Amino acid sequence: MKDKIILAIESSCDETAMAIIKNNQLLANVVSSQIKNHQDKGGVIPELASRLHLENIDKVFKEAIKKAEITINDIDVIAIVDGPGLVGALHVGVMFAKSLAYINNIKILRLHHIAGHIYANEFIDNFEFPLLALVVSGGHTELVLMKEHLKFEVIGRTLDDAIGESYDKVAKVLSLGYPGGPILDKLAKEGHNIYNFPSPKINDNDFNFSYSGLKSAVINKVNQLNMKKESYKIEDIVCSFQDSAVAPLIVKSLKAIDEYNIKHMIIAGGVAANSYLREQLTRKVPKNVKLTLPPLWCCTDNAAMIASLANHYNYDELDNDLSFGVNPNKVLE
Ligand code: KG4
Ligand code: ZN
Repeated sequence: MKDKIILAIESSCDETAMAIIKNNQLLANVVSSQIKNHQDKGGVIPELASRLHLENIDKVFKEAIKKAEITINDIDVIAIVDGPGLVGALHVGVMFAKSLAYINNIKILRLHHIAGHIYANEFIDNFEFPLLALVVSGGHTELVLMKEHLKFEVIGRTLDDAIGESYDKVAKVLSLGYPGGPILDKLAKEGHNIYNFPSPKINDNDFNFSYSGLKSAVINKVNQLNMKKESYKIEDIVCSFQDSAVAPLIVKSLKAIDEYNIKHMIIAGGVAANSYLREQLTRKVPKNVKLTLPPLWCCTDNAAMIASLANHYNYDELDNDLSFGVNPNKVLE
């Protein structure tokens, strides 16, 4: 049987990304990041993101097939993220996928962005079930239970802001730049938790999270200190914020491990790159539970993770229907 070659496309936020995978072998992984274009605006501007995807997508495609040393004719399946994400950004990837599919008669597999983040972990470990995925990104904070491949049960989620969003907003109020996560991660190491900000919902008897109260508490504290012209160390603010932000993730993950007899825990999404979160999990997850921390190169948005997810599907069942759109609020199930 001929080897199947998958082209994976990811354009849900501010990275235009394509990866090509043949069996389990990653032949190309191209990520064109727009971060620099959004940096001076303090966050992703959706309309600008769509325009930049449109400018970049063809270049990214050409680079990917060149790196993989294949031609369009070698592609058997296109795996495209149709949600969740920014509506305009998703549209660019989906329209590109549809055009390629239509002209070259290739089948399309529509995949979920967060499921992709989860499957990034398969680059280093095979999944064991029941598996717990802690999904922490700019748009998501979720605990996902998996009893088998491709079946996702969201057992807890944020009731308001996502954790990555709170990192970005705290960085913004401290004028530290965008994206805030990596900057705060470094600064926190130089500070002490002297402010004891609240950790909302940490003691509640469920698996949900809340980050808007913590974000407001930090912003209010910074504004107060500035108004009173009191001196403070930014590192202490950041360290105090990070302690309170990460604590509920650890407490609820451990509770879920216990309640669902979890054999394997993984983390996913941009905040999975956070060194304090990784250190806390390494120390606190019981040693009889396999813990996988994805390599840093595939924590933030990329298409290799989408290709890894696509590998688990049966392509023979796909039809050639191209009458689908994007789903910015796509549910993980
Ligand atoms: O998964 P991702 O690339 O995009 C979304 O799907 O949202 O995640 C981006 C988020 C941003 O909020 C960014 O600040 C955060 O991940 N992030 C981090 C770190 N690296 C990226 N947060 C904390 N610590 C980090 N080292
Ligand atoms: Zn993401």
